Amino acid sequence: MVSQSTIERPAAAADVQTRGAAPRIKLAVKDLTISYGKAVALKEVNLEVREHEIFGIIGPANAGKTSFLKALNRMDVFTPGMRVNGDIEFNGRDTRHLNNIYALRSRIGVVFPLPVGLPMTVYDNVALSPRWRGITNKADLDVIVQRCLTRAALWDEVKDRLDALGSLLSGGQQQRLTIARALSQEPDLLMLDEFSIAVDPVTTMRIEDVLKELRKEVTIILVTNLVQQARRLADRTAFFLNSECVEIGVTEDLFTGEVKDRRTRDYVEGRFG
Ligand SMILES: Nc1ncnc2c1ncn2[C@@H]1O[C@H](COP(=O)(O)OP(=O)(O)O)[C@@H](O)[C@H]1O
Ligand SMILES: [Mg+2]
Repeated sequence: MVSQSTIERPAAAADVQTRGAAPRIKLAVKDLTISYGKAVALKEVNLEVREHEIFGIIGPANAGKTSFLKALNRMDVFTPGMRVNGDIEFNGRDTRHLNNIYALRSRIGVVFPLPVGLPMTVYDNVALSPRWRGITNKADLDVIVQRCLTRAALWDEVKDRLDALGSLLSGGQQQRLTIARALSQEPDLLMLDEFSIAVDPVTTMRIEDVLKELRKEVTIILVTNLVQQARRLADRTAFFLNSECVEIGVTEDLFTGEVKDRRTRDYVEGRFG
């Protein structure tokens, strides 16, 4: 893994300049193939994610969903044996040949299936990224911490114990803390990988409400093992199966409209997976 000192955000994010006029297409993926050694995890995927949409990705285990997210934020660099071919443009800029992948990674917030709390207080979990960006003034940090925790629907529950270790929160709270921390990066793109796998249904619904609000500000890629979650949240959804992107469509069409591939309907109706 990378030591913290090497993941400091560069002062000038020259490689991926995302502020200013944003393109309508947030992410363009062309002929993306991912392999681990000789095993192909994802084959020739072509898709686009539009700005401010919630883009769902559904599919059974081992379909290649997580690998796809890893390619987007250049986790391949830290994953031995992982090879990525094809083009990925983020905000119209090629991400495959960057001099500085940290500038890219700082624009992309990631939430994993299990909360990965940093071994520090609730406050510091959220203040870490702003501090890396050079914000050191306590009053400024306070505002950011409160805003991020509020946006993650966690503020009311933790405002009196900001100095407690994040690991002491409940599982559902920790997952929301992870979201608050992702938001503290001020990401352009938020990627969630099966966020609700270890979260109770009530927290899941709260987080779903959070995502509906957040889409006004960020583009969201939602990988989910729950097809009904994709149906509730995603504007468009891709169905991954056995290392292929079988179908991409308006989410509701996958459930009730025309599908191009019967396996899509079989999957969303629970006939396998
Ligand atoms: N680090 C890795 N090394 C080798 N193979 C991997 C690695 N990560 C994933 N794979 C393989 O890639 C395929 C896709 O995995 P993954 O992207 O995790 O799928 P999903 O998230 O849809 O379950 C699987 O066959 C898995 O075993
Ligand atoms: Mg996965």
